[in-house]
Amino acid sequence: MKAFIVDQYKKVPLRLGETPEPGVGDRDVLVEVRAAGINPLDSKIRDGEFKLILPYRPPFVLGHDVAGTVMQVGAAVRRFKPGDEVYARPRDGRIGAFAERIAIDEADVALKPANLSMEEAAAVPLVALTAWQALVEKAKLKAGQKVLIHAGSGGVGAFAIQIAKHRGATVATTTSTANVDLVKQLGADVVVDYKTEEFDKILSGYDVVLNSLDGKTLEKSLAVLKPGGLLISISGPPDVAFARSQNLGWPVRLVLRLLSAGIRRKARGRGIDYSFLFMRADGEQLGRITSLIEDGAVSVVVDKTFPFGRLNEAMAYVDTGRAKGKVVVTVKPEGQ
Ligand SMILES: NC(=O)c1ccc[n+]([C@@H]2O[C@H](COP(=O)([O-])OP(=O)(O)OC[C@H]3O[C@@H](n4cnc5c(N)ncnc54)[C@H](OP(=O)(O)O)[C@@H]3O)[C@@H](O)[C@H]2O)c1
Repeated sequence: MKAFIVDQYKKVPLRLGETPEPGVGDRDVLVEVRAAGINPLDSKIRDGEFKLILPYRPPFVLGHDVAGTVMQVGAAVRRFKPGDEVYARPRDGRIGAFAERIAIDEADVALKPANLSMEEAAAVPLVALTAWQALVEKAKLKAGQKVLIHAGSGGVGAFAIQIAKHRGATVATTTSTANVDLVKQLGADVVVDYKTEEFDKILSGYDVVLNSLDGKTLEKSLAVLKPGGLLISISGPPDVAFARSQNLGWPVRLVLRLLSAGIRRKARGRGIDYSFLFMRADGEQLGRITSLIEDGAVSVVVDKTFPFGRLNEAMAYVDTGRAKGKVVVTVKPEGQ
């Protein structure tokens, strides 16, 4: 089958080539990929930035978000059947959405929201699960609480604003002038235009901050939180709890302990809890996100769709850091 392959860890375009058909285990569903979502994580893996944490051995197929049709199921699969339209963030170690077909553990899969196209569905899993795991699972966000979501116009931010609003929280977000209207439409109550304002001079007394930006933004976010507040970062630095959850060896644990020492110390000094979150595949949670989308509580923002053959252009566009919502490739157009 055709797939986009990483031949070596390097900042070079992926190679479109032939790769063996995926093997289908007892608990796997084989999915014909109709659309695949692009994430900054794809470029980071391609460039070798995640080698220590996710040691994929080249050549391998990239791609973390998929929407498509079930072609075949393993002997132990109970929840899906051939013909089902599904979507997924396949688990780490078993990625490969930039291909014509992918075998996925059924535990990672959910039925695709009926009101979405394949392209819209492929825009959902990784970022929506990240927002859910940060705000619902970790922060246990409640009605009346105040949350600051950085980069509200990005893939994660657009879902995080809507999920936080659905929980009844007051939502502040940072964005540039061009995206102020977009984040307001998504439900943000307070919008800080980072081109003209400094969020840490304006906001205070927040319960939760979700950071997806750089270390400076992470540190400044401490000033926004009240004592007892939660600072959750998805862009680093990773902490020891994360190293433990990934079963990383002691040398890597030590490195991560040192990398996160500064922010952990500063947070502790203010009575704030710092944690790093690395999202995980979860078909059951994705099913709950399906319901939110079908109920109209959450909508999907797709910035651009590219044909499969132009996947490297799609990745380059995500790499600019300017995407509004998600970028998707159509692998098999409707009716083909
Ligand atoms: N740990 C995890 O599990 C996990 C999961 C998902 C993502 N991530 C990471 O989180 C980060 C964000 O991911 P994403 O998919 O949301 O990225 P994305 O969609 O590519 O983010 C692009 C958006 O970021 C906004 N942005 C850029 N700089 C900003 C700034 N200084 N202030 C406010 N907004 C800014 C841009 O808006 P403007 O054009 O208006 O600046 C743009 O809309 C990435 O580093 C990604 O790798 C981690």
